[in-house]
Amino acid sequence: MIKKIKFVDLNKINKPFKKKYFKFLKEIYEKNSFIKSKYNKMLEKKISKIFKSKFCLTINSGTDALIVAIKALGLKKGDEILTTSNTWISSAYAISLNDCKPVFVDIDDKYFQMNEKLLSKKLTKKTKAIIVTHLYGNPCEMTHICKFAKKNNLFIIEDIAQAHLAKYKNKIVGNFGDIGCMSFYPSKNLGSIGDGGAIITNSKKMIFKCTQIANYGSTNFKDKDHKVVGYNSRMDEVQAAFLNLKIKSLKKNNDLRKDLAKVYNKKCDTMGIKRILERPNSENVYHLYPIIVKKRNLLLKKLKEKNIETQIHYEIPIHLQKVYKKFKNSNLKVTNDISKKILSLPFYPGITKNQIEYLFKVIGRNKKLI
Ligand SMILES: Cc1ncc(COP(=O)(O)O)c(C=O)c1O
Repeated sequence: MIKKIKFVDLNKINKPFKKKYFKFLKEIYEKNSFIKSKYNKMLEKKISKIFKSKFCLTINSGTDALIVAIKALGLKKGDEILTTSNTWISSAYAISLNDCKPVFVDIDDKYFQMNEKLLSKKLTKKTKAIIVTHLYGNPCEMTHICKFAKKNNLFIIEDIAQAHLAKYKNKIVGNFGDIGCMSFYPSKNLGSIGDGGAIITNSKKMIFKCTQIANYGSTNFKDKDHKVVGYNSRMDEVQAAFLNLKIKSLKKNNDLRKDLAKVYNKKCDTMGIKRILERPNSENVYHLYPIIVKKRNLLLKKLKEKNIETQIHYEIPIHLQKVYKKFKNSNLKVTNDISKKILSLPFYPGITKNQIEYLFKVIGRNKKLI
């Protein structure tokens, strides 16, 4: 009997690391090595190696990674940054907090990513950068985006918070542009036990600037004479120690997600459920499994009645939220439309075959809502 299906089961996901992690914690506690010590250095090396990027800087959250990255580009007040509205609000905040202006580009209705064909429509003389978010783990069309950026002299920041190790044309996302920003929010494919994030880049200049900005404006801990204005956006050792353990299973867990997605895809296709498609030449790492449902709120309610947890990514597009209301007429038809229909199903490594059967059985019983 299935009593409940959690949206994600972090106890199950994090259990294998508990014993070793507690040993690491004891060591950190006893040595008082809390900030930017051994475990951060080790983690930065591991991330660089696994993500195939020259440099990595650990950061205290994905949001701060984006804020620091934009600051490192050295943009001016009022510069415009192309981005999407169907995503977590941090990318827009990072733009605003750097005194720049977000310009929202619509998404496509197949892969639900930035519609690369619409970029030129939003280009102005003030456009200076693009934040490309590979949402749900599904890569954007980077060939066109990179060509467009090069032609128009734009920086690219990739938000890979939901796309750890996803690939486009065999290249790991985060390496296409100037800077890649990731989050280790606990439920992410590589999730910490609190807040965490990282920046990856192949540019020496960018890693230098990001390191300065994220560490009180200095690349040196002992600096007394600070050169630039900076934040304190560093990662704690308690997070870095945990991520050092968990990162070893990122590839394996991504493979489990891909296998699970095959099962979900088959179920959706036989039941006529509209799902997110995988772009040709790309590897989706399935951070989330969203479906498109005609009567979304009703289906959500029916699933809740059966103790099946779902989430909505995202219920109110950024340009329709109060804080960004001046952007409400941004002409984002697909974004507006899917925000009313999108529903993320429970999906994580460790969800059982019986739970999946039950989930789709309950959806099947409510076929008229699909
Ligand atoms: C796409 C995306 N960008 C940025 C963030 C912000 O990361 P954090 O929560 O670590 O600040 C998140 C999620 O949490 C996200 O999903």
